[in-house]
Amino acid sequence: MAPSAQSLPTSVSDEKYANVKWEELGFGFCRTDNMYVAKCKHGESFQEGKIVPYADIQISPCSAVLNYGQGLYEGLKAYRTEDGRIVLFRPDQNALRLQSGANRLCMPYPTVDQFVSAVKQVVLANKKWIPPPGRGTLYIRPILFGSGPILGSLPVPEYTFTVFACPVGRYHKDNAGLNLKIEDKFRRAFPSGTGGVKSITNYSPVWITLAEAKAKGFSDVLFLDAATGKNVEELFASNVFIVKVEERVVPVEDLLDAEEVFCSGTAAIVTTIASVTFKEKKTEFKTGDKTLAAKLFATLTDIQMGRVEDKKGWIVEL
Ligand code: COI
Repeated sequence: MAPSAQSLPTSVSDEKYANVKWEELGFGFCRTDNMYVAKCKHGESFQEGKIVPYADIQISPCSAVLNYGQGLYEGLKAYRTEDGRIVLFRPDQNALRLQSGANRLCMPYPTVDQFVSAVKQVVLANKKWIPPPGRGTLYIRPILFGSGPILGSLPVPEYTFTVFACPVGRYHKDNAGLNLKIEDKFRRAFPSGTGGVKSITNYSPVWITLAEAKAKGFSDVLFLDAATGKNVEELFASNVFIVKVEERVVPVEDLLDAEEVFCSGTAAIVTTIASVTFKEKKTEFKTGDKTLAAKLFATLTDIQMGRVEDKKGWIVEL
């Protein structure tokens, strides 16, 4: 197993690149040089924040995020293209998703322009940490949370919007395809709950399922819907696609019938699923170079790395 970036040396060796063993990059925390911070008081809007040296943040033990989980995160990546540009992929869509989550969790939010500008500033302030083309990406984490103290009811007196970044390699290490366990006990999201927004509270309650699956040798878990326990929902960190041409609710039996299955996400990119195990029974799917997942992975990363023309206006150059 490749060591995570956590264990990598982090000193800066030359003008262009930080001293990182890029070929050993996993998907782990790696301290970089700078981060962005903006704060706003209850009833006010976010003003322009600033780039500060990366450091721990001080927070009230009574803060809304620590006591009530009032927080959202985003995940996006900066890519170094082969012709030397630094680009982002659809950052406005992350800004809009953050705004929708902020409405759901009663928080003020940065404008799309403030969000994209903060992301660009963080990328430029950590330029040395963007891996060389084809060796990884700079994963960017914008977070928005209630930082002011609240013991009882609203309002929360202060909110913080922070952006930091870490160089990363592939999220999944199983290049030949993932072996999934269909999670039959715990559910991830609920009708009318927060599954539709990127609330920080969506993740740790189901870490137990990931820990149990990994202990048994699986790569990841596939969740079923909370209302019926019969339909396929998503993996821990990505969406799932079954190679058919419609977008619809997918009962487990249709999944088990599929020829090819893959997942996608910012961290996961596009990753083939080699098998799923449901109630101890393993079903295998098509893997390898001839899969749709392999073609989609190649097309998406070709656009992101500037190897083919972006005809949709998805690439934002810094
Ligand atoms: C992402 O793909 O950015 C995610 O939010 C998943 C995370 C668990 C790595």
